[in-house]
Amino acid sequence: MVRKIATGIGGLDELVGGGFPEDRVILVIGGPGAGKTIMCSQFLYKGIYENQENGIFVSLDESKDHFYSEMEQFGWDFRKAEEEGKFAFIDATRMSQVAMLKEKLYKEESRSLRGKQLSIDRLIEDLQAKIRQINAKRVIVDTLAALVYRFPDAIEKRTAVVDLIESLADLGVTSLVTTELGYLGLERNALEEEFLVHGVIMMQTLFSGGTTTRAIQVEKMREAKVNPSLVPYSIDRNGIEIFPNMPLFEGK
Ligand SMILES: Nc1ncnc2c1ncn2[C@@H]1O[C@H](COP(=O)(O)OP(=O)(O)OP(=O)(O)O)[C@@H](O)[C@H]1O
Ligand SMILES: [Mg+2]
Repeated sequence: MVRKIATGIGGLDELVGGGFPEDRVILVIGGPGAGKTIMCSQFLYKGIYENQENGIFVSLDESKDHFYSEMEQFGWDFRKAEEEGKFAFIDATRMSQVAMLKEKLYKEESRSLRGKQLSIDRLIEDLQAKIRQINAKRVIVDTLAALVYRFPDAIEKRTAVVDLIESLADLGVTSLVTTELGYLGLERNALEEEFLVHGVIMMQTLFSGGTTTRAIQVEKMREAKVNPSLVPYSIDRNGIEIFPNMPLFEGK
């Protein structure tokens, strides 16, 4: 049976059936401002200081300085964790910008998949080296949505996403990968990446009676008995907390 690891997020262990399955890939889906980055960072930070599991944050959409200052408000000192050799930040934003610039310069290359393919391979190699270097057990990739700019062609993007997720699954780490979902309604089409991963968590903002409520749902978690209910969560200066036993909307 797969071992479970503490998520570090209040209420989430209970929701996912005792923690995240070790060494698997979990997809976190949510709209802008849902709290994807905060949740992933909390998983890493608590992992480092409460579970002695070192972590790596691969960012496709924000710089290291921005990330560090954003996380300070929760009292999560990632800079210190980095100095202690327990954390590493891989800035993959610049890599993709440089690559895009190159493509503009060498139009020929932009038509071949090879040039782009190399950059995903390179990212995985860098990640693998860092995992070994700091003996990381937890990895975040935030966010797949940013790959759209890098791979405007749908098929190329899909290839990149499949490669990334499959590589992560082989690295011997527990990973959270984020992505966006523009439209959320009663029915939606599953994203392709949902079929590739071990688990899927959805974060959304619901509107009812003039108020908004943040709600989270475990859509899938292989090998686990999950609580599939849509339940409320909050974001405050301590980070994210989930309330599995609270009704979504208070009765009036
Ligand atoms: N101290 C705080 N108290 C309450 N809410 C906060 C606090 N800090 C941040 N938030 C909320 O957290 C949200 C941002 O979280 P986060 O950056 O993790 O979202 P995200 O899903 O990663 O968004 P994006 O798609 O833009 O990257 C915002 O909606 C913001 O209102
Ligand atoms: Mg984010």
